[in-house]
Amino acid sequence: ATGADPYDVVIIGGGPGGYVAAIRAGQEGLRTACIESRGSLGGTCLNVGCIPSKALLNNSHHYEAAHHDMKHRGVDIGNVSLNLDTMMKAKDTSVTGLTKGVEGLLKKNKVDYIKGTGSFNSPNKIDVNLLDGGETQVEAKNVIIATGSEVTPFPGQGLEIDEKQVISSTGALDLPKVPKKMVVIGGGIIGLELGSVWRRLGAEVTVVEFMGSVGAGMDGEIAKNFQKILAKQGVEFKVNTKVVSAEKHADGVKLNVEGVKDGKSEAIDAEVVLCSIGRRPVTRNLGLDKIGIELDNKGRIPVDGQYNTSVPGVKCIGDVTFGPMLAHKAEEEGIAAVEIIKHGHGHVNYDVIPSVIYTYPEVAWVGRNEEQLKEAGVNYKVGKFPFLANSRAKTNMDTEGTVKFIIEADTYEILGVHIIGPNAGEMIASAALAMEYKASAEDVARTCHAHPTLSEAFKEAALASYSKPIQW
Ligand code: FAD
Ligand code: NAI
Repeated sequence: ATGADPYDVVIIGGGPGGYVAAIRAGQEGLRTACIESRGSLGGTCLNVGCIPSKALLNNSHHYEAAHHDMKHRGVDIGNVSLNLDTMMKAKDTSVTGLTKGVEGLLKKNKVDYIKGTGSFNSPNKIDVNLLDGGETQVEAKNVIIATGSEVTPFPGQGLEIDEKQVISSTGALDLPKVPKKMVVIGGGIIGLELGSVWRRLGAEVTVVEFMGSVGAGMDGEIAKNFQKILAKQGVEFKVNTKVVSAEKHADGVKLNVEGVKDGKSEAIDAEVVLCSIGRRPVTRNLGLDKIGIELDNKGRIPVDGQYNTSVPGVKCIGDVTFGPMLAHKAEEEGIAAVEIIKHGHGHVNYDVIPSVIYTYPEVAWVGRNEEQLKEAGVNYKVGKFPFLANSRAKTNMDTEGTVKFIIEADTYEILGVHIIGPNAGEMIASAALAMEYKASAEDVARTCHAHPTLSEAFKEAALASYSKPIQW
């Protein structure tokens, strides 16, 4: 584009934040370019995150169901065996279908897709190191940084990620065979999702978690329950435990761990170690020093309420800035940032961003949990309804889990909804919608829900929060 008119918007990064911003900008008639260094669009989420992990979660669930869950339903299957190659190919097909789809959407919306690494030369000039070799420079009236995040490596020696013995989530999405023993460091979302996948496929899985509970910040009661369910499925947990040192050897890794509370040491052997202790923002090689953007103490790019960085004309969204590292959060910000550029206003409601863990059963929540409300001194009430008492869950023979509503004690305003159970990830959308429109628990409970559906448990939990449930 050298020599041409400047772009209205140039987006650096083609993940869910960047590509959604690019599509919206195209739809708004803005002259737009999206620079992506990976060689395919969709970012972490489509290439090595949400999508491949959900493909493996879904298919490993079918494998396990075929193994253990069909006979008592009256479905006799002969010998069940795993074809890991086919399972991996199915995952790859989902990924390529979607990343190509995004490429098509950029084209359709007249966005220029520039394959290469972008770096600021000045606030409105971006140098691009092209993937095919060579360089170019693009000029922009507005720049949106959407460079996302990457795995946080384990500090200290012995656990450098080699994607063979010590793997990140990326390696865990692509193992060539099922390891005999996998140790997962970090019982957060990645550890529990990908730990579940490999446990189902036949690995012995031990999760080592530094904190007293798993699930990285979910409601305490739900976390406890969730850990019990996963333990019943065969995942071993060592909570309040930290990894002190590690040595790689020819057929595995020896980890020395220590109790956080009692200081007790223990050695654990693993064929493969999955390091899932969080993710960190990607800002290197971006030339931020050239334009004077400084990072905060977590390495993120600070922004104001309109996604402006400290440099005029440069905005920032998604994992590389504040807030939860979630694809749908990045997407909403991408749209808001473009609408602010085009119309002067745009908005994301950070109080109503759902979280979902796609294990079996799923865990989903939105709003605040009991611990947060106690700390804030809010007067709240809780209503719960177990899937055990839900007719559809019973017919499905899938009765594990609960819906939990937390409401403001006087007004019945919904403060948080926390679900463990079949389809929790879909059900949480109703909670988000109710909260977005400030519905009270009574509004939800008086809305007719179809019978027999799992959603009746949702309605009943709402009812239970301020009155009495009917079926329990
Ligand atoms: P990213 O998706 O990280 O995209 C940033 C892009 O910018 C990357 O493609 C990168 O190559 C590119 N880039 C970086 N620097 C430059 C540069 N200088 N020039 C050009 N391009 C550059 N979230 C969910 O909501 N649901 C899930 O189920 C879920 N599952 C996940 C599973 C795993 C295993 C992982 C690792 C993450 C998961 N996430 C999930 C998180 C989700 O992937 C991220 O929150 C989301 O991708 C963030 O989007 P983003 O656009 O901010 O950044
Ligand atoms: P996480 O922040 O969810 O969990 C990390 C866990 O590791 C925490 O429980 C933490 O206490 C623990 N930990 C940290 N250091 C440790 C140590 N030294 N020893 C033992 N435990 C330690 O991070 P995770 O799982 O790596 O995922 C990163 C992010 O990716 C998530 O926060 C989430 O935003 C996103 N993601 C979202 C998914 C979804 O929405 N379904 C799926 C996967 C990832």
